Amino acid sequence: MIDSALFADRMLSLGLARVSEAAAIASARLIGSGNEKAADQAAVDAMRSQLNLLDIAGVVVIGEGERDEAPMLYIGEEVGTGNGPGVDIALDPLEGTTLTAKDMPNALAVIAMGPRGSMLHAPDVYMDKLAIGPGFAPDIVSLDMSPTERIAALAAAKGCKPADLMVCVLERPRHEDLVREIRATGARIRLITDGDVAGVIHCAETAKTGIDMYMGSGGAPEGVLAAAALKCMGGQIQGRLLFRNDDERGRAAKAGISDLNKIYRRDDMVTADVIFAATGVTDGSVVRGARRDGDYLETETLLMRSKTGSVRRLFYRVRIDDN
Ligand code: FBP
Repeated sequence: MIDSALFADRMLSLGLARVSEAAAIASARLIGSGNEKAADQAAVDAMRSQLNLLDIAGVVVIGEGERDEAPMLYIGEEVGTGNGPGVDIALDPLEGTTLTAKDMPNALAVIAMGPRGSMLHAPDVYMDKLAIGPGFAPDIVSLDMSPTERIAALAAAKGCKPADLMVCVLERPRHEDLVREIRATGARIRLITDGDVAGVIHCAETAKTGIDMYMGSGGAPEGVLAAAALKCMGGQIQGRLLFRNDDERGRAAKAGISDLNKIYRRDDMVTADVIFAATGVTDGSVVRGARRDGDYLETETLLMRSKTGSVRRLFYRVRIDDN
């Protein structure tokens, strides 16, 4: 059952921004350190401490992993003070651990919150993803189409040529055929080394990012976070879980998923209004990264509510000693 009635407090969204800020600030110290694990751990610790100050009865639905693999922010962990609305939490304290360790663009600290029961319990498997920005008829592109058909459909809807489209794809050996097929249509590709939550978000701000469409497989948990972002910004995402072995199919069963071929649309992954916060860790096209200015640290956070479509960009400056 979805607990929407209790989930009305606007102030919670401001609290959520503090949670992603805390994670970004903690991991910012490790930008360029080459130490992915330490950067991730710093973000996890800080996010968890800040999240536990919020007056919510939260349950982590998308988190750091199963309970036996992740000591903190594991799936099913109860977070918050317990005094407040029952909510689902999807989080990735550091989306782009390698990006952070190598000081490459678009690493984010990300969190989304919705009423209890509103988010897909996506197992930690791959998901085939397809996303476009707002302003198009539902399902003008679909995972059931070939990449060539998707590009033709989007070009027709935009009244442009395939060559005018930029598609964002994770650079992976598994995507070699996809890349070849996209390029054969004339469309161009922005290859990213990591960070497909940012990759999908980029579709919702085409004028700023130059990206029209996202395609390819990445983590299923990141798919739910991306769906939460697009629910606030507008835009479409479809995802289909990909299973490589019985262990992964078992993870789906444990998460209560029986239809292994289902295409999840945005509103299947996030079924009620959601709040989404992302703070930049390294500089990116959507938010700038956390940076030091003398004795101060600065961050930029994108904070959005799907209910009103409100988008805030919060600039935060704090004395380093205070953290
Ligand atoms: P991490 O922050 O956990 O390193 O994940 C980064 C990421 O690039 C995600 O954005 C993406 O969904 C996933 O990894 C892709 O997985 P893989 O590296 O196995 O292709």
